[in-house]
Amino acid sequence: MSHRFLAILAATGLLLSSTPRVQAAEPAKSDAKPAFTVVKAARVVDPKAGVVLTDQAIIISGDKVQSIVPAADVAKALPADAVVTIIDLGSATVLPGLIDCHTHVTGQPTNFYEDIFRRSPIDQATTSHIYAKRTLDAGFTTIRNVGADNYVDFALRNAINAGKLPGPRILASGPALSATGGHGDLNGMSPYIRFEGEINGIANGVEEVRKKVRENVKYGADVIKILATAGVLSEEEAVGLPQYTLEEMKAAVDEAHVWGKRVAAHAHGTEGIKLAIRAGVTSVEHSSFIDDEGIKLALEHGTYLVFDIYNDDYIMAEYGRLGYPQKILDKEKLVGRTQRENFTKALKAGCKLAFGTDAGVYPHGWNAKQFHTMVVWGMTPMQAIQAATVSAADLLGWNTKVGQLAPGFYADLIAVKGDPLTNETVLEHVDFVMKGGEVYKNKLTADPVKVFE
Ligand code: ARG
Repeated sequence: MSHRFLAILAATGLLLSSTPRVQAAEPAKSDAKPAFTVVKAARVVDPKAGVVLTDQAIIISGDKVQSIVPAADVAKALPADAVVTIIDLGSATVLPGLIDCHTHVTGQPTNFYEDIFRRSPIDQATTSHIYAKRTLDAGFTTIRNVGADNYVDFALRNAINAGKLPGPRILASGPALSATGGHGDLNGMSPYIRFEGEINGIANGVEEVRKKVRENVKYGADVIKILATAGVLSEEEAVGLPQYTLEEMKAAVDEAHVWGKRVAAHAHGTEGIKLAIRAGVTSVEHSSFIDDEGIKLALEHGTYLVFDIYNDDYIMAEYGRLGYPQKILDKEKLVGRTQRENFTKALKAGCKLAFGTDAGVYPHGWNAKQFHTMVVWGMTPMQAIQAATVSAADLLGWNTKVGQLAPGFYADLIAVKGDPLTNETVLEHVDFVMKGGEVYKNKLTADPVKVFE
């Protein structure tokens, strides 16, 4: 008797008396796939409407949601001859799979010296799948990876899409475009140090910027990342000075649009944020020193702001121990609190905000810790969930695919015990993960999880 079918019986406790019929308890051929999966849950968060529905059944066909109906109406909603797998999540709360719009999934810091000098792109390539799995297990079924040299993120995405590895859906940028000496360059070293064969995003001037965008697209970029200003975790002096001109950023945006891609701009500094918005980027990442004029511009242009406001806690607690230069720790001190205050300002002003953590700066799988920071700094739990679902999907250009549990959307869903609308920290403990109709993690029922061989 199929394991899966035993689980169905255990979960439902019955064979539905009338139509549709539940799969007979006879040995199922190993290739016999149920035509429908029905996920039942006491509570389902609908971030689009901003409400919680009770006693729902999500009807899934293939990798998509077919419909979502009151649990009592399941039989009516299915064809009479349907073969059904029911996964009853009991009292759990179901949400659409979460989306993190700012990750670096191909690595995470172990030690400043080790990371720069002892790890090659091949080390990254052979470990990044671990981080992808942790991210998925944490309930993030989609990520936008904004910056990975050597195209490691493209290879990871492709392996996941080909079904070879468990991991989230990945929109990948490849190497982030950076000015020489900028946030994406390796600074503070002897001019004689070279990393042979490295594929990075260094591009200067309009022509090189256009060429780099084309090159990234050629090798598989879904999105273009540009480093509009200086940064924290790099050794240039400033933290927020502009590093690209308006013309260079306009060229990046224009060229990206030619290829149907959007642009995400890393920008901490006040001026660089405004230049990036004026250049037409779709999102400003970090947004740390945004001023009133920047907020006004973001509102006028409809630019998304992605504030990674959890990771200051981690950097201040751990980066000294990890051997990061004092200069970097001092830069973080300048950014941390102000960024959080400006998150609150932007929220009050009504800016479009999407959830992005910069995971990879801190451990993958901890992505959901930022929900609590967002609530402490002014969001309701529902707003924080919306930032990581409907708003994030809108920023990605995937608002008809992910971020909601509605007909035609991917069957990407997660479940938690407890009520994330009154306590957002329950999102840090995801018990059930389904992506594209397949179960990847399940601590709630006996239903089996997808096996990778
Ligand atoms: N990747 C960013 C940078 O190096 C990290 C900034 C982290 N700090 C923060 N408060 N968000 O600039």
